[in-house]
Amino acid sequence: MDYISLEQAYDFGVIPKKGLCIVKGKGTKVWDDKGKEYIDCMSGVSSMNAGHCHPAIVQAIRAQSEKLIHAYGGLYNDTRALYFEKLASVTPEGMKKIFFCNSGTESIEGALKIARGVSGKTEIIAMQNAFHGRTFGSMSATWNSKYTKLFEPLVPGFKHVPFNDIAALTEAVTENTAAIILELVQGEGGVHIATKEYAQAIRKLCNEKNILLIVDEIQTGFGRCGSMFVCMQYGITPDIMCLAKSIANGIPMGAIVCKDYLKLPPKTHGTTFGGNPLAAAAAFATLDVIQHEKLAEKARAAGDYFRSQLKAISSSKIREVRGLGLLTGIELTEPAGTYLDKLIDAGILCLLAGDNILRFLPPLAISKEEIDLVVQAMRNILH
Ligand SMILES: Cc1ncc(COP(=O)(O)O)c(C=O)c1O
Repeated sequence: MDYISLEQAYDFGVIPKKGLCIVKGKGTKVWDDKGKEYIDCMSGVSSMNAGHCHPAIVQAIRAQSEKLIHAYGGLYNDTRALYFEKLASVTPEGMKKIFFCNSGTESIEGALKIARGVSGKTEIIAMQNAFHGRTFGSMSATWNSKYTKLFEPLVPGFKHVPFNDIAALTEAVTENTAAIILELVQGEGGVHIATKEYAQAIRKLCNEKNILLIVDEIQTGFGRCGSMFVCMQYGITPDIMCLAKSIANGIPMGAIVCKDYLKLPPKTHGTTFGGNPLAAAAAFATLDVIQHEKLAEKARAAGDYFRSQLKAISSSKIREVRGLGLLTGIELTEPAGTYLDKLIDAGILCLLAGDNILRFLPPLAISKEEIDLVVQAMRNILH
């Protein structure tokens, strides 16, 4: 069966696709319909931190699907209750109020509503090169006009300031600033890393001006950057933290984690599927795996090793290697698309983060041997 032609016949077509059809996954590996094996450094854009088809997560999904798949949030549910408690056990001190949703963009939308609803103010300051999602609120917080131009007018009240520039941010604040939103490591926008001083200065600014700090941990969370949430490495506590992607290791889910005092009036926000028992069961098992297999610690060590090996490659085509934990960007001196295709031929899947940057987001238990294979493939294609 030619599945690629079959998809092409009906797919709406806005997501550019590579010409391979993935049919199976296990741990860090996936296989296409011809049986070819790949090391998956794409991980569903950081949605598979615990690896493909982890037996404990598969078992949790199987057991829950035989018991109860869906219960609307207007009713209580045992699995959801237990996951609330489990997630709250790893969120920062004082951030134990949680709203479950189904995706990253929904988490951002909810966070923006909470910021406006709680503060009574309307302006949101976001960062240049930020990516927060593709619905109207999250898109308005997103920087690159290639995602937004066609759909203007966007939500009013958003402005963007240069990343890692506290003076520009301070300048942009007004009496009407409800929130500052940022990724501490920008993923889609090019793998740019906030400095600790910058993050701490933002926290201080927010405290002084009574502004809510929203940290988007959708790509950085659940161990990806070498700690459960990357904000923990910065020594800051957000007011609102947005989660999704690896929260349930491939089952669609998101969460808005809030400081305990934040509240919206009843019925001003809601969801049909958010916190659904099937997703909650997968999320519970995922967090268990991340904790028991020490995946955040592994990501930290593996990421350091990966970047040290990449930096040792002698090629005039590499401008910079940067990242944190297992979120790594390799900035080339030329467009990276053809190199991404060469990596696919070599059996390695990765992503772009802007035209010149290759982005690697493998499952967190990637072995040293697999990293060596990725590095060797990079060496081969860049010589
Ligand atoms: C940092 C960040 N925020 C938000 C989103 C949007 O998430 P979703 O695609 O689940 O809506 C993404 C997705 O790539 C992301 O990387």
